[in-house]
Order: sequence, then structure tokens, then C-alpha cells
Amino acid sequence: MTTPLLAATGITVHFSGVVALDDVALTVPEGRTIGLVGPNGAGKTTLFGVLSGLVRPRSGSVTLRGTDVTRRSPQARARLGLSRTFQRMELFTELTVREHLVLAQRVRDGRQSLVGFARDLSGAGERPGRSEVATVEAILDLLGLRAVAERPALSLPLGTGRLVEVARALAAEPSVVLLDEPSSGLDPHETEQLGEALRRVRAERGTAFVLVEHNVEFVLALSDRVTVLDFGRVLVEGTPDDVRASAEVQAAYFGTAPVGTGGETP
Ligand SMILES: Nc1ncnc2c1ncn2[C@@H]1O[C@H](COP(=O)(O)OP(=O)(O)O)[C@@H](O)[C@H]1O
Ligand SMILES: [Mg+2]
Repeated sequence: MTTPLLAATGITVHFSGVVALDDVALTVPEGRTIGLVGPNGAGKTTLFGVLSGLVRPRSGSVTLRGTDVTRRSPQARARLGLSRTFQRMELFTELTVREHLVLAQRVRDGRQSLVGFARDLSGAGERPGRSEVATVEAILDLLGLRAVAERPALSLPLGTGRLVEVARALAAEPSVVLLDEPSSGLDPHETEQLGEALRRVRAERGTAFVLVEHNVEFVLALSDRVTVLDFGRVLVEGTPDDVRASAEVQAAYFGTAPVGTGGETP
């Protein structure tokens, strides 16, 4: 078997008595999209924290391209090609869409602090170089953000803001991106646009994604494989069809019998 791009095994996390994760494993092969679903409080965001380095597990390990990164900082993991978005958007008030992308790229390279970036914008510092500009322009095109590149990111509708978050995660040119509920608060049209944008990124760049979502159909439609968490444990790991057919998932997650058991054709 080839070394997976990102892998976690035996991950256990306790928060003052609460078992947030209990012996959880997750494998992300190169270029694949892995869905992570489960009811509120199942441990999805905690697992993202463990993968990205913000949460230290009590036991278990995380590897990135075969390197054990369990004790490495989020910055070190970012330099190794891991990038993430947060459940609550974290865009900066003053910056335009394009500036967010330039900043993300420089922070990943360890070339810039936020303070330094503010100074640059005031005209006193380093201007974006040619290769920086090329990377940023390519991402703006890929996500259909060119028309809003000069707008302050926070002035945009939520759906566009979520695309900016994805764009920002991509500006560091990662090999794997963790997306925490990227479709939350979006209407069906915006959700569709987001899904198309993710498919484009995957097709053109071969980026791998781990996708946490409330919107189960969105995950099933985009993912190669899906892990279902429930109370900090892996309930099911399989293809989207496996998950659709799983009686355990139906019971735990939807509180109903599997679709199709009522006699109708699925
Ligand atoms: N920083 C924290 N301190 C204490 N408990 C936490 C913390 N983060 C998460 N938890 C608890 O861990 C469990 C899993 O939470 P979380 O990973 O946020 O779930 P999900 O993202 O699936 O909704 C929940 O019981 C939650 O209350
Ligand atoms: Mg969460």
C-alpha cells in the first residue's frame, strides 16, 4: 500500500471528563475527498484540531506524507502542505479578497507577520512579487472571484465569503485542505456553486479535501469515501453508497430506518 497523504490512527481526545474522540482513524489518500459527518458534538471539529495541530491528542498519531507530525505545530504542518478553514469564518475587516490571498501565501512561507502586512498595505513595505501575483490570480480565476478581488472580503455575501475562505486555504498551495462546514448558512444555489468550485480545484490541482458538513447530501455527492462519527467513535467508514445504505447511520444520524425500506424503490 502506498503511504497516504494524511493519516490519523488511534486518536483519543478528552476534554475535562468528556471523551470527544475515542480511538478514531482517518486516512486521506492523495487527491481524494474524504467526507466527515456526524451529529452535533460527534467530534468532527476536534478531529480537525488534531489533524491541524491545534488539539493535542491523549493518544494516537498523525502522519503527513509518512512523517509523524503528532507533536508538530500548526505552522509546521502548514509548511508540509496542510491547510484548513474554520467553522466560523475568520476574514479580516480591512483586507480585500486579493489581499487575503497574498497574506495567506506569505504567512505560509513564514515570510510575513500580520503587522508587517499592514505596513505593506500602507505602501511602506514589500509589494507582491511576480510569482506571488501569478499564484493568487490563478486561484481567483479557479474560484470565480476575479470580479470581487478588489472588494473588502467582509462586504461580500456569505456564499462568496465561503469561497474566499477556500481560496485563502488554497493560496498556500496545499496538498490537503480541511474544510469545516463550508456550506453552513448557504442557500441551495450558493451551495451548488461551492460544490462546483471544489470539483474544479480537485480536477485542476489534485488537491485532497477533508470535508466536514452538516449537509450530508453535499458530502455524499462530493466525497470518495466518508467517515461517520457518533459520540467520538467511528460508526461507519465507507463509500457514499455504503453510508446511504447503513442502518446504523440511519438510526444514529437521522433517527429513521434506511431510505427504501418502506417498500419504495430507492
Ligand atoms: N475546547 C473544548 N473544551 C471542552 N469540551 C470541548 C471542547 N471542544 C469540543 N468539546 C466537546 O467535545 C465534543 C465534540 O465536539 P466537536 O468536536 O466540536 O463536535 P462537532 O464538531 O462534531 O459538532 C462535544 O461534546 C464538545 O462539547
Ligand atoms: Mg464542529
